[in-house]
Amino acid sequence: MAKKTKSVSAKKASAKRAGAKPKPSFKAANPVKPGELLTLLDLMRYGVSRFVEAGVVFAHGTTDPVAEAAFIVCETLHLHPDQFEMFANARVTSHEAAKILALIDKRIATRKPSAYLVNKIYMRGLPFYVDERVIVPRSFIGELLDSHFGGDLEEEGGSLIDDPGNITRVLDLCTGSGCLAILACQSFPNATVDAVDISPDALAVAARNVADYGLEDRVSLYQGNLFDAVGDARYDLIITNPPYVDAEGMAGLPRECLHEPSIAFDGGDDGLDLVRKILDEAKDHLTPDGGLLCEIGRGRDVLGDAYPNLPLLWLDTEDSDGEVFWIPAEALA
Ligand SMILES: C[S@@+](CC[C@H](N)C(=O)[O-])C[C@H]1O[C@@H](n2cnc3c(N)ncnc32)[C@H](O)[C@@H]1O
Repeated sequence: MAKKTKSVSAKKASAKRAGAKPKPSFKAANPVKPGELLTLLDLMRYGVSRFVEAGVVFAHGTTDPVAEAAFIVCETLHLHPDQFEMFANARVTSHEAAKILALIDKRIATRKPSAYLVNKIYMRGLPFYVDERVIVPRSFIGELLDSHFGGDLEEEGGSLIDDPGNITRVLDLCTGSGCLAILACQSFPNATVDAVDISPDALAVAARNVADYGLEDRVSLYQGNLFDAVGDARYDLIITNPPYVDAEGMAGLPRECLHEPSIAFDGGDDGLDLVRKILDEAKDHLTPDGGLLCEIGRGRDVLGDAYPNLPLLWLDTEDSDGEVFWIPAEALA
């Protein structure tokens, strides 16, 4: 007699008994019929509608539903996000469409940032590997490295440091995925970079990115608590995007952020525990002409009250207003 196959519910019951978690199903109510969505643009539009309908939060490398949907479409098709427009009206195969629709469903069902779903994010046009061991990179410092230390400085308002070519030692405190350390290598071609994080998990991801860019000779990774990791070394430039979310913010993090390591966010009661330590100790780690570039989120007023005499220069970016400050070494001495 042929062996009886177990019914689906019997299989689920035996998995439960064995302690196995039932596999999550990402087949959300997906009413798309074959042939309804033909082009990249069709699929992007569909993703936008689904994301808005579901109330998905965007803060992980994309800041709106259009960019998020375009990112998913492009990643699935192995295209750089900048190539979306070029291929917007090209048709996809049914196999490709199925993969894109599955990712859209998964993004909504799990609330995981898309960057984790595809293990990649772009910063300043460059790809970085990411997984849940590190926060998804989105620091405003990436843009500021271009706008205030290199590129077309006359148009952007001048460099914060006399000659970026003279910067030979950079410290990236709280490096996470290593993205800022790697971008710093681009902005400062004559520099070596020390990159510090307290999390061995984050450093493992950073090591992978540093290797992907072939920068092992220029970027050194250190595990430790802020400056403790680098002894009495001094730097021409310190860049840092430390954890800076206050207690209230930590209690209200969107579901997407709960997939990220909380150590990357938690800045204590007013969010500035680490920022204060960095400000207090930076002078002992800067060369006389150096400076500190530090992202602090929305804590500008609190920091201003705590350090009324420090001439912090607040810098804006395309998507931020006064969330990063610059202070030269001479003002910290
Ligand atoms: C906001 S994330 C920034 C990561 C990366 N620089 C970026 O911009 O994407 C902050 C990082 O600081 C690290 N961190 C937290 N506390 C630290 C400490 N006391 N010393 C060094 N790193 C710390 C976390 O592990 C996390 O990777």
